[in-house]
Order: sequence, then structure tokens, then C-alpha cells
Amino acid sequence: MSRKSIHGEWSNRWIFILAATGSAVGLGNIWKFPYITGEYGGGAFVLVYLLCIAVIGIPIMMSEVLLGRRGKQSPINTMRALAKSEGASRYWQLLGWSGVVAGFLILSYYSVIAGWALAYVLEAASGAFTAQSADNIGHLFSGMLANPWVLLFWHSIFMLLTIVVVARGVRQGLEKAIRFLMPALFVLLILMVGYAMSTGEFMQGVKFLFNPDFSKLSWAGVLTAMGHAFFTLSLGMGAIMIYGSYMPHDASIAKTSILVAVADTLVALLAGLAIFPIVFAYGLEPGAGPSLIFMTLPIAFGQMPGGILFGTLFFVLLVFAAWSSAISLIEPAVAWLVENRNFTRIKAALITGISTWLLGIITVFSFNDWRFSFYFAGEKKTNGMFDVIDILTANIMLPLGGLFIAIFAAWVMRQQTSMDELGMGQGARYQLWKFLVRFVTPVGVTMIFLKAIGVL
Ligand code: PHE
Repeated sequence: MSRKSIHGEWSNRWIFILAATGSAVGLGNIWKFPYITGEYGGGAFVLVYLLCIAVIGIPIMMSEVLLGRRGKQSPINTMRALAKSEGASRYWQLLGWSGVVAGFLILSYYSVIAGWALAYVLEAASGAFTAQSADNIGHLFSGMLANPWVLLFWHSIFMLLTIVVVARGVRQGLEKAIRFLMPALFVLLILMVGYAMSTGEFMQGVKFLFNPDFSKLSWAGVLTAMGHAFFTLSLGMGAIMIYGSYMPHDASIAKTSILVAVADTLVALLAGLAIFPIVFAYGLEPGAGPSLIFMTLPIAFGQMPGGILFGTLFFVLLVFAAWSSAISLIEPAVAWLVENRNFTRIKAALITGISTWLLGIITVFSFNDWRFSFYFAGEKKTNGMFDVIDILTANIMLPLGGLFIAIFAAWVMRQQTSMDELGMGQGARYQLWKFLVRFVTPVGVTMIFLKAIGVL
């Protein structure tokens, strides 16, 4: 097997780990995980999320990397080629298409939220948080949300950053950007947890995160926890598949997948430990929704010594974490345009970037002029189209994508192929993987869907 992707290959397996971690660790960990945990009541939600990471997330990540490294092309063409070589229906390429659509939809709002983080770099650097009351910090944030032009401006800057990196290609663009950023983010989060310990409400935060109270968890919450396991590991839409296609052949798929999942989970838990003590110390609302980290962390930065420096650094790193995820969200579409339309990477990046930017305008206005509320599986959602797109992608498209990836890897693909590619023989570890993707994932995902929509 000496075939390589035409788009290039990671320099070595560590770069793959770094890149996949860069894709996985993002707004999902630091912004989304804390706010949905707050909305769905804490401990029990976290437990379901951890369980989903372990028994669904890791096996599917292995499957997705496996398919990618086998196919060596954009997810659409990878699925087309694999369906052919494994003697399956050519409709399997629809899996690649649904991933491309999900990637556009996710990035369209992801970029708007990353724009908030960009705006907060300036706020932090200018000392806007220093010694401010929780109320003032809340007003600062709601003031920003109320102004679509401000949101549009930062959304545009973030999309531009994404286009620039994607246009430069695998080695020059993606690899360079993530080498130093992930470790720095990790260190800064630990520092924030240190501050949270000094608030006096640390234990209450720990209890909220780890003490499961199942009476607080609805089936909509379980679906959200499962959806988030896919979202946070970048699964079900081809991002990990295409990163896998750039993976050299001598790397172990199982070990790298586990490493990436563990690192991703650690970052999320650290973010939770940094945020909830502050929530309780200042009497804030854990279920505040998407605004949660933008209302809590600035309070901490405003109070702690060196807060201007740390605050600025934190939002800069958050932007970088979002950036390294954003590039993986459009990489499948970009690679496909290069393969099938013969576009240069620059042209492909521009076209996908501009379309996503346009789509993002829907999210920009969903926090102000076009805001509306609705009910989803019995839970009230208040951020209009932003919530619609989020639910459609994270709670529906990604788990479905993951389900079909599992079915392909474990039921359609010949055992010989998956064994070859995973390279761990046919012993207990291979059997465990196979069991999880054959039975646990399909049954788990289907059951949670049916429960959440009230059929079961
Ligand atoms: N995993 C990223 C995060 O947690 C988001 C993402 C989802 C990236 C799907 C790529 C694909 O922020």
C-alpha cells in the first residue's frame, strides 16, 4: 500500500494526532459543552456524554479514519471508491454528500460564534472586564448580540482567516497553524481552573459536573449528549475521514483515535471545571445558554491579577482552537472541488468560504432581528435559526452520518479490509471494535433517536 492522497500527507503520525486534535478541540469543548451541560442539569448529562464518547465515539472515530485512509480521497470520492471495491451500492457516496452539507451548515454558525471570541480578544485587551460587576459584563455581551453589524463584521474576519489557511493546503496551511496552539490552550485552561479553585465555590462546581441526578435529564438531553459526542470529536461528517486520508500508513488507528478522544474530553472537562465554580460564586444561571462562557470567564479575568493578559491570551487561544476546527469543516468540500472540478485549492477555498459566509448571515440575525422561540422534544429553544441549524446538524445529521459510517465499516466492508487497515490482528481488541460498531452504535443511536422524538 504505497498510495497517497493527491492533496498531500501529514509529515508523520504525530502531526495526524495534532491535526485531529485540532479539529476535535474547539468551540465544542470550551463554549458548547459547558452551556449544554448547564441547560440539561449537569452530572447526569455529563455521564451520558462520557459514555457516548467511550462506546460510540471512539469506535466510530476508528471507523472513520479507517475509511478515509483506505479511500485516500475526499469523503464523497472515498465512499464512491470503497463502495465499488467492496461491492456495495454506489448510493453510499450520499454519505459523503451529507457530510459536505453538514460541514457547511456547522461552519456557518461556528464562524459567527468564533467571531464573538474575536471580538472578546479586543474587549479583554482593552481592559473592558477589569473590576466589572457580573451585571455589566452581561450587558456588554447582550449589547454585542443586539447589533447584527458587529456580529457580521467578526464573522467575516473569521471566515477570511479560515479561507486563508485552507487555501494554503495540508502542510503549509493546516499543519503549521496547529503545532503550538493546542498545548498553549491546555496550559491556560489549567490556569483558569486554578482561578476557579480560589472562588470558594469550586466544590459546588465539581458537584454540578459529576454528581448525576437523573431526574434532571430528559430524553432530549440524552440526544443532545450523544449528538455532542459526535460534534466534539468531529465525527459523522467526513472531517476525520479526510484527515485520515492524509494519515501515513504506519500509524495505529486505534491508539491515535483513543489519544485524540481523551485529549478532547480532558479539555471539555477542564473548561467545565473552570466555568461552573464561577457561575455559582457569582450567582449566575448555569442554563444561560450560548452566552455562558462569555458572561462567566470575563468576570474571572476582571478580578484576577494579570487578568488583562490572561483574558486576552485566553480568547486568542479560543480563536485558534476554533480556527483549527473550522478548516476541517470545509476541507471535505474543498478536496472534492479540487478532485472533481479541477479547481486550485485557492479557488476551491474561496468558493466554499464565501458560500459558508453567506449562510452564516442567518445565524447573525438569529440573535437579534430574526429571533424566535420554539420547542424541540419538549425543550424550549430561544435562538431561532441558530438553534434549528444546531439541532439539525449536531443532534441529527452527525449521529446519522456516524451510524452509516459504522454500518459501512462493520457490515458492508469485508472483514479482511478492515483488519488490514486497523492492523491489530483479529484478536480481542479487533473483536471489541467490531462488536461496538456492529451492534452498540446502531442500536444506541437508533434508540436514542426514537426516545427523543417520543416514539419509544
Ligand atoms: N469538534 C469541533 C468542536 O468541538 C467541531 C467540529 C464538528 C469540527 C464537526 C469538525 C467537524 O468544536
